[in-house]
Amino acid sequence: MTKQYGILAFPAKHSVSPVVYNAAFKALDIDAQFGFFEIPENELDDFMKQVKDGLADGMSVSLPYKEVMLNYMTQVSEDAKRIGAVNTVVNNGGVLYGYNTDFLGSNEALKEAVGELKGKPVVILGAGGAARAVIYGLLKEGANVLGILNRTIGAAEKLAEEFSKMFDVKIEAYSSENLADVLPFKDKLTDAILIQTTSIWTLQPDILAEDAEKLCPAEYVKYFSTVMDIVYKPILTPLLKTAQSLGKKVITGDRMFLFQAAEQFKLFTEKEPPMEVMENILAENLI
Ligand code: ATR
Repeated sequence: MTKQYGILAFPAKHSVSPVVYNAAFKALDIDAQFGFFEIPENELDDFMKQVKDGLADGMSVSLPYKEVMLNYMTQVSEDAKRIGAVNTVVNNGGVLYGYNTDFLGSNEALKEAVGELKGKPVVILGAGGAARAVIYGLLKEGANVLGILNRTIGAAEKLAEEFSKMFDVKIEAYSSENLADVLPFKDKLTDAILIQTTSIWTLQPDILAEDAEKLCPAEYVKYFSTVMDIVYKPILTPLLKTAQSLGKKVITGDRMFLFQAAEQFKLFTEKEPPMEVMENILAENLI
């Protein structure tokens, strides 16, 4: 019987996952299809019952359900538990397994660009759910996560404290206001990476250049050697444009997406993903 997969999110229709997975299934001649599960919050309970009953063999999970998904799983991987989010569900005959492949995706995207992460100084912009997976991945690799910068300082402090304890390290928290004046960690940024994890580009696709610049001004970006953005729409975010104009190495969000999807594909199919096919179809569908 044709296996059923899909992206569970709200909204979901903007996702590139279906086109990428369907191309990958086709390339390997796997009898499966991948669709959209655009489910509003008040229907999630019902929907998850149907999933358990066989509606789906597996799901990619995105906003706003990654955290709440933990409650619906029969079993959750240690990584997903510690991140506090599930982005991959595998349904094995009504037994739901929850995993997180986001942190593997961000690690791969970083390693591809800069090599070994152990000891690398990194600064994180944003303190939401996406930041959690990225920070967790970095700390697992032994990177030197200097600090978390966020619009709401309280959220940055909370995250910094939680992960400092979890990995027995010292992560600092700063407000992301006035970065050009404060220049956090200014003297420690030789060969450092800046990672943008906020949802600003997604929430404000038509943001004006001067407002975009406020998130992280060029006066601060100039201290880093590499800048990564985890958002893939647009592929070259305003921050990456700034970084590029300053001659920095940039890592676009499609790389993290590709590598997390590849790990997810393995969990869904127990097969090696056709990377080139996935990469090409992704490139065709992103601008
Ligand atoms: P996600 O799962 O995508 O991380 P989230 O958990 O809602 O989503 O977190 C969103 C992150 O983007 C937060 O760090 C948020 O900052 P606040 O904690 O101050 O809310 C950040 N963010 C969203 N819009 C932003 C904006 N316009 N400027 C700066 N940061 C923004």
